[in-house]
Amino acid sequence: MWSSSVQTGTEISIAGITAKELAKEFGTPTFFIDQADFYARATEWNTALKNSFGDDAGTVYYAAKAFICTEVARWIKDIGIGIDVCTGGELSVALAGGIDPAKIELHGNNKSVAEIEKAVACGVGTIVLDSLYEIERVAAAATKANKVQHVLLRLTPGIEAHTHESIATAHEDVKFGFSIASGSAWDAINAVRSHTSLELRGFHAHIGSQIFGYESFELSAERLIGLLAKYRDEFKSELPELDLGGGYGIAYLPGDATVIPADAMKALSAAVIKNCQLHSLKVPTISIEPGRAIVGPTMFTLYEVGTVKDVTLENGTHRRYVSVDGGMSDNIRPSLYGAVYTTVLANRTSTAQNVSSRLVGKHCETGDIVIREIDLPGDIVPGDLLAVPATGAYGRSMASNYNHVPRPPVVAVNDGKARVIVRRETEDDLRMLDI
Ligand code: LLP
Repeated sequence: MWSSSVQTGTEISIAGITAKELAKEFGTPTFFIDQADFYARATEWNTALKNSFGDDAGTVYYAAKAFICTEVARWIKDIGIGIDVCTGGELSVALAGGIDPAKIELHGNNKSVAEIEKAVACGVGTIVLDSLYEIERVAAAATKANKVQHVLLRLTPGIEAHTHESIATAHEDVKFGFSIASGSAWDAINAVRSHTSLELRGFHAHIGSQIFGYESFELSAERLIGLLAKYRDEFKSELPELDLGGGYGIAYLPGDATVIPADAMKALSAAVIKNCQLHSLKVPTISIEPGRAIVGPTMFTLYEVGTVKDVTLENGTHRRYVSVDGGMSDNIRPSLYGAVYTTVLANRTSTAQNVSSRLVGKHCETGDIVIREIDLPGDIVPGDLLAVPATGAYGRSMASNYNHVPRPPVVAVNDGKARVIVRRETEDDLRMLDI
């Protein structure tokens, strides 16, 4: 839930700097990212993949959509893993951070021709193909650039992953990829093979996000390997790569489970090896794309309390509304997915009795809720600081300017020093686009 350099218990501190000092220097709301923790988590996934798959290990592609900025792209380069981008915008940040294009994988179900041409021209290692139209577009772009582009086919293995409907991606009724069951994956294979400017390297599947338990990943591997075998039987050659996507779950609340990289990779390699043996296939190189599991726990959001209000409910009981200076514009996940978070008083300790409270933002909308139900010390007053852990994934990256609220900065903390890596947006920034 918290990153490794955070101290809780009394006043919250990160890498030795107290929340009060951080709020004074950087203001609120602000995302604080624990740099050492980011490095450790990315390295742990990389090591787990290498340890479990040995020579057959492919690449850990950090899923940029969870959170990316130029500095974090530099970290990815430094750590030596790859990156998964799904738009021209994410691609441009990866390149600005100096990531080797060969270690970039381009996703997306509706990449524009401009995005495809830019990716091909800059030498992106892999493009993951998502539709028949796109096969033609990437083939044309590669021909135009006089290149042979490595591609994977995104497949839907027909799995109902146990997660929120909006973030499950591998059942049949989705916009992503080619269905194995319906035969459209096979049509896509034939379409790719008809182009000399494309080299089909293998298959990709991403079954969803915030997933615990390994069965869905194992089933996905089983179905993709089944298709590798069919391919070998038909074309007398073996495809060398599988990318099994991201989606590994993290803890948001005290006591929540979290996926352990070494365990997840061991389970996956056992499933891959078993299924390859079953079909007498050489084990392909296996890549993965964790986003949330790397960046999620590395950040917390620091808010300042602005108002506290007790409301009498219809049944006569009271609810305390604690309002902070951000809300759904910096964390849309509670309203969008019913996501749950916790918070702690960050600037002092309190022995006051807890009061059942609702943590809300400053937006003009009833649904602007950060935490629907939480016991908070009864003496919380305006000016207190509240820290919400595990906001690193899909927090800042899905932030909006709703109500013309400028988006919060991201401050990296490392070794007792804090520095801005994404600055706070200003009201001038917001007006900058107006004509
Ligand atoms: N690879 C592909 C192809 C993906 O579509 C995604 C996430 C990932 C990897 C990374 O998944 P992760 O390891 O981060 O779970 N906004 C939602 C999550 C949407 C995920 C979209 N794709 C949320 O806030 O929960």
